[in-house]
Amino acid sequence: MSNQNNQILKNTNAQILDEFNASIMFDKELYSQDIRGSIAHSQMLCEQGILTKEEQEAIEKGLLQVKEEIESGDFKFTLATEDIHMAVESRLTEIIGEPGKKLHTARSRNDQVATDFRLYVQEKSLSIKAQLKELIETFVNVASKHTETLIPGMTHLQHAQPLNFGYHMLAYANMFKRDFERFESSYERNNYSPLGSAALAGTPHNINRKSTSDKLGFYEPTNHAMDTVSDRDFALEILFNISTSMMHISRISEELITWSSYEFQFVRMSDEYATTSSIMPQKKNPDVPELLRGKTGRVYGNLISLLTVMKGLPLAYNKDTQEDKEGVFDSVKTIEISLSILNEVIKTMIVNKDKMQAACKVGHLSATDLADFLVQNQNMPFRTAYYITKDVVSHANSLNKDISELTIDEIKEANEDLKNVSEDIVMYLDLRNSMNARTSLGGTSTKQTQKQIENFKKWLKDN
Ligand code: ARG
Repeated sequence: MSNQNNQILKNTNAQILDEFNASIMFDKELYSQDIRGSIAHSQMLCEQGILTKEEQEAIEKGLLQVKEEIESGDFKFTLATEDIHMAVESRLTEIIGEPGKKLHTARSRNDQVATDFRLYVQEKSLSIKAQLKELIETFVNVASKHTETLIPGMTHLQHAQPLNFGYHMLAYANMFKRDFERFESSYERNNYSPLGSAALAGTPHNINRKSTSDKLGFYEPTNHAMDTVSDRDFALEILFNISTSMMHISRISEELITWSSYEFQFVRMSDEYATTSSIMPQKKNPDVPELLRGKTGRVYGNLISLLTVMKGLPLAYNKDTQEDKEGVFDSVKTIEISLSILNEVIKTMIVNKDKMQAACKVGHLSATDLADFLVQNQNMPFRTAYYITKDVVSHANSLNKDISELTIDEIKEANEDLKNVSEDIVMYLDLRNSMNARTSLGGTSTKQTQKQIENFKKWLKDN
């Protein structure tokens, strides 16, 4: 090979290696956290007499200028500076000269990246929580309009018992409330400052970790440097929390897709959130909930990726952890857009009460009420009542009727043991009465549903 070719090959390899090693293309997302962390660090160094007041002021001013350059798009990101930490520090030194070189005293990129990333995750936990709260409020508002709208409740996707649609909506409010609480408890558990852990073992400089921790809004500094620089539990937690919320988003999306199908027609998605087909002009497709459902898969992938990256790492910091960021950024962006879109979809969906109500008349939804009536009023063992009810269902089928439409005579005909059954039974088989009979705590009756709505409204005020 000629010398010239050799040189080209070398250059190419060097460039490939830079590209492979660098994280600047994606960790520039952390620029504001990096600058915040550096300002706090410089202030602490000054308090401790490690930097002079002039040096600290120059550093702080310079860092704010770097921030402005990044935000205005003037900042030149290059592979040469590897990551956001090096990029900010080297531009700072270009701007202010010597004092810039003192900023990295008593810290390492290992505690720096742990701090930046944790700040990011903490900020996002709070903003996602706020979005979840908005979504919960939307479900509660829809619920309060539909506490008397009958809908077939299903198990195994088969008609089971009548519910009200408000109650169904509150199931989702409950799921997203648990999500809210999960983000909250992760925030609480992880709100401790890594800064000052240095490379892995702490530092001989006389630093004050409590001071930087306070300045950055953490509760306290963490208490073990080596554990801290190699810990990514906080990132795994947000990935898990996002995955669980996406799973809930995916479940309501699945229902919306089914409910808006021709066979159901329980809801219609507002035109803004339905799309057309490029070939079939008559179509209105639920692309939006389908995408919400689909994106859930990628978010799960991000969680599994990081779990896998972490599983074999010896203590302490290893470059493998640089792989922690892209998945988290991706999952955060995905949940942010998903929550705001789902919120609009739920707000604007058109509920077809008539279709829901009509569907309740299929599948003998109040059959359990007949059995319950026989238990309560004739002191019959439940299993006996169950078999008698089966006969009534068969009889209703042979008459081509739903059990809720049977007359007292038709009920009596169904089984010997019903000869003397009270006429009240007809009332019990009525679908709305059936729904309203479920007054037990957490049950579907309109009254219970309204109580649950009140509880949610109180929660929304308090949180
Ligand atoms: N870019 C690195 C990361 O994201 C920063 C820490 C690098 N530390 C080191 N000693 N190489 O993890």
